[in-house]
Amino acid sequence: MRLFFAIDIPDPLKKEMSALQKKLGANLSGVKWVEEENLHLTLKFLGEVSDHKLKGIISAAHSNLDNFRPHTLSFTNTGFFPHRNRPRVIWLGISGETDVTREVARRLDESLAPLGFEPDSKRKLHITLGRINKETTGPDLVRRAQEYNGIGEERKFEVAEVRLYSSELTPSGPNYSILEKFVFRY
Ligand code: 2AM
Repeated sequence: MRLFFAIDIPDPLKKEMSALQKKLGANLSGVKWVEEENLHLTLKFLGEVSDHKLKGIISAAHSNLDNFRPHTLSFTNTGFFPHRNRPRVIWLGISGETDVTREVARRLDESLAPLGFEPDSKRKLHITLGRINKETTGPDLVRRAQEYNGIGEERKFEVAEVRLYSSELTPSGPNYSILEKFVFRY
């Protein structure tokens, strides 16, 4: 199983993100856009995990995540990995109570380290919008993204749970299934 922990994005916001993808990608080839239903904010990627580890992962995450409080995020500007001069991935950043989100991710690191999962020291929280697979597309997309910056400042959403997803890779894109929800209680 290929596993990751993520925050889901409410449907109306996913719709807006999808509209943004369409504006950014109009008449531009060479970008594989993330499907609307698959847009999410990854907290921790575990990679391939053998089935027998699943129970331990879920139980460690419950003991560490359930005591968080719901918090509010909004999405902000677009950015590029690894760098806007060499763009391979276009993403949306987040603002708002990001300290809480970061603490959730840190606690996930801490709780899963004893099970053999490396803490992610270089984590940069983001929502991947698309992957650029044609080098000449990069500069055009960077220019276009500048025109739409600031678009999400007012779009707040409440984060009330984290989900553990499994991801099955298929030729038409990944299929994500929810394996467990970790609902914030306070
Ligand atoms: P990405 O959006 O930045 O590509 C499911 O694949 C999720 O896990 C995606 O959000 C993806 O992040 C993340 N992911 C996939 N491979 C990863 C890796 N090797 N390291 C960190 N995150 C990864």
